Amino acid sequence: MINELKKQFLEIFGGTDDGIRVFASPGRVNLIGEHTDYNGGFVFPAALTMATTIIARPREDSVVRMKATDLDGIVEGDLNTIDKYKDLKWGNYQFGIFDELRKAGYNICGADMLFHDTTPHGGGLSSSAAIEVSAAIAMASLGGAKDIDNIEMAKISQLAEHNYIGVNCGIMDQFASAMGKKNHVIFLNCKTLDYKLVPIQLDGYKLVISNTNKKRSLADSKYNERRSECEKGLELLKAELPDKTCLGDISAEEFDGAKHLITDEVIRNRVMHVISEDDRVLRSVDVLQKGDLKAFGELMTASHESLRDLYEVSCTELDTLVESALKLDSVLGSRMTGAGFGGCTVSLVKEDGVDEFIEKVGKEYLDKIGYAASFYITEIGDGGREIK
Ligand code: GLA
Repeated sequence: MINELKKQFLEIFGGTDDGIRVFASPGRVNLIGEHTDYNGGFVFPAALTMATTIIARPREDSVVRMKATDLDGIVEGDLNTIDKYKDLKWGNYQFGIFDELRKAGYNICGADMLFHDTTPHGGGLSSSAAIEVSAAIAMASLGGAKDIDNIEMAKISQLAEHNYIGVNCGIMDQFASAMGKKNHVIFLNCKTLDYKLVPIQLDGYKLVISNTNKKRSLADSKYNERRSECEKGLELLKAELPDKTCLGDISAEEFDGAKHLITDEVIRNRVMHVISEDDRVLRSVDVLQKGDLKAFGELMTASHESLRDLYEVSCTELDTLVESALKLDSVLGSRMTGAGFGGCTVSLVKEDGVDEFIEKVGKEYLDKIGYAASFYITEIGDGGREIK
C-alpha cells in the first residue's frame, strides 16, 4: 500500500522521492468510559488498525499543499496566514495542528502531503484524531524534531480541536491514537494522564463494531452543552465538596451524600452518569484482567443504558443496534462508543456467532431505519509513528 501511495504522491505533486517520509496514526474504539475524559475520569480505549497514513515531503517555502486519496482537489495554504483556513471542509484540522505546533515552539515548514484514511469519516471512531495526530507527528518531524513525544502530540491535537475547530473535546481520542499498542487496551486516568497498557484476551470472543452510518448533525454543539452541564454540576457539588476539582475526583459515596445540592434533574442525571461510568471503567479493567467476559459485557450494556437515559447522547439508530445485538445469545454486551448522536456501537460477540450477528443485526437495522449499517471486526493496532 505504501508504495502505491508514494506513486500517487509523485503523480500529484511531481518531483522525486527524495525527502519523502511516511507517517501514520490510527482511529480508536472506546471499550468503556464515555464522556468521562473531560471530567477528569477514566477511559478504556484501544487504537484500531484503521488509520490515517500520510506521505509527506518538505518544501523550501511556507506553502502546504494537501490532497486526500478519497477527495478531489488539492487544498493549498500558507503557514504565514495560518488563521485563514478554519472554514475549510477538509484541511482545517491540519492547519489547526500546524498552528498549535508553532505555538508550542516547534519548527514547521512548507510541505506536500497525501492523506489516506481507512477510518470511516464521522463514524465515532476518531477519524479526526487519526488525521490530527498523524499530521502533528508528520509536521513536527519534517520541521526537524527528533524523538517525538507522542503524549505531547496528543495534547497539541486536543488544543487544535479546542482552538481551531471549536470542539471542547477531552484527551481520550488523541491519546488513544498517539499511544495505542497492538492487542492492548489503554487504561487512562484523564486527570493525571497516568496510563497502563492492558493486554486483551478475549478467548473465543470478538469485539464487533457496528456503524449506524447516520449523518451526524449538531453533534458538536450538543457535545459542548454536555460539557458545560457537567461543569455546572461540579460547581453545585463544591458547596459541600470544596476540594474537588473535577467530577472524576468524586466517588459514588461522596456523590450520594451531596447530590441533594443539584435540584435540576437534568444536571443531576448528567453527573450521575459520569460518576457511575467512572466506576464501571474501574470494574471493567478488573474483570477483564480476570478474564470474566460475562461481567465485562454486563458493564458495557449498563454503560449504554446510562448514556441513553441519563446522559442522553444516544439516538434511535444506536439504540436499535444495541437492542438487536442483545437479542442474540452469542452477545455478552453492547454499547454506543464515542460521543454519541450517531456513530458506532461496540459489542462483545462469541466468535462463532459473528456471522449471524452481522446478518441479524444488519437486517433488523435496515428494516427499522431504512438504510444499512456497516460492521467491522475490531483489530487493535499500534499508535502514531513514522513508518520507515
Ligand atoms: C468524543 C471526544 C472525546 C470523548 C468522547 C466521549 O470522542 O472527542 O474526548 O469525550 O467523545 O467519551
